Amino acid sequence: MPRAPSLTARRSAALLGIHRPSTPVPAFTSGYLFAITNPGAERVLKHEIAAAGLEWRPGFQARGFVTFKSPAVEAPFGARDLLQPVAFARRLCLFAGKADTLDGARALLATAGPAELPLHHLRMTEGWLMPAPGEPPAALTAGQMAATVVEFSPAEFWAGLHWHEPLLSPFPGGCSGVTLPEDAPSRAWLKLEEAARFFGLTFSARDVVVELGCAPGGVLLALLRRGVSVIGVDPAKLAPIVMERAVAEVPASGKAPHQPWAVHCRKPAALVSKRDLAGHATWFMSDMNQSPAVAIKECARFTKMCPSIRSALITLKLTDLTEASAKSAWIDAMQRMGFQTVRLQQLCVHHRELVLLGLGRRD
Ligand SMILES: C[S@@+](CC[C@H](N)C(=O)[O-])C[C@H]1O[C@@H](n2cnc3c(N)ncnc32)[C@H](O)[C@@H]1O
Repeated sequence: MPRAPSLTARRSAALLGIHRPSTPVPAFTSGYLFAITNPGAERVLKHEIAAAGLEWRPGFQARGFVTFKSPAVEAPFGARDLLQPVAFARRLCLFAGKADTLDGARALLATAGPAELPLHHLRMTEGWLMPAPGEPPAALTAGQMAATVVEFSPAEFWAGLHWHEPLLSPFPGGCSGVTLPEDAPSRAWLKLEEAARFFGLTFSARDVVVELGCAPGGVLLALLRRGVSVIGVDPAKLAPIVMERAVAEVPASGKAPHQPWAVHCRKPAALVSKRDLAGHATWFMSDMNQSPAVAIKECARFTKMCPSIRSALITLKLTDLTEASAKSAWIDAMQRMGFQTVRLQQLCVHHRELVLLGLGRRD
């Protein structure tokens, strides 16, 4: 029997924008669930869950891995619990059992779900739970059940189940395995590409991104290669590989070149005015070395200046992960700007950072 969430949990779910499942919720339940997180984020993950009023009881913990026990035996965890938007969990799974071999874990899973379950195998690699090398699994589709097996040592395999939903990563442990190309001007290339893969973001040639804090140009290069034009804002210099594609000013509507273009608006974000944007942007992005409050305030100002902005992807730079206790204030601010769907998420390429995604903005 799926557990009825407590009143506090329901309130916090409403506040934090928990989504409804896109397909009927399957029946498998478990007294435990486990979360995959980045090493060093285990404590803030537990705080986040307690602050959301979820009443999940922390149990066994290892680097990048935290288990939770359901608050009551008669009310085990079910698929709905996995839909909680927990920023510090790259993956939440219902616990299916523990085995001393991979085949043993497979056998446990076969008793819990369909025989041909896609299997995501994670292995502890230099302190991080990362996808084990091998064939990349096929992308999951909404409603599909998948298994995660976490290998802590050659004789310890933990097995869990989850169901794929839009905005959950289709990749093992929420980590796509994408690697930085040699010509990328910065690691920020990875942050854009990992976010796009985690959330399944799509861009079209009609999109124009305004990116605050664009230098030296990793995100800009990733976007240009995806066929998207960019207005990059930053007082610092862009790398030559990006400057090669730059045009002097934002092309007038209807006069844009066929190729994606980039404009470098070489000033601090606060000095950018409506004229610099020429009414063009559809996406707001920020990767500025500024506090979350400044980045979110600029997002509000840019969406007012440029009502055509429909989506936002903001890297929040934290001095300490505990700053994420401001989560509901950040989500509220995005909702007040008109974003219908808002997610806060740690990605496997993040250290002291989180990404805040806003989609479906209405004026
Ligand atoms: C982490 S780097 C950005 C990396 C970049 N997104 C990339 O793809 O390579 C942070 C940038 O934020 C810029 N920055 C800091 N404060 C800013 C502000 N107020 N307005 C615009 N850019 C700012 C810095 O100059 C720096 O280049």
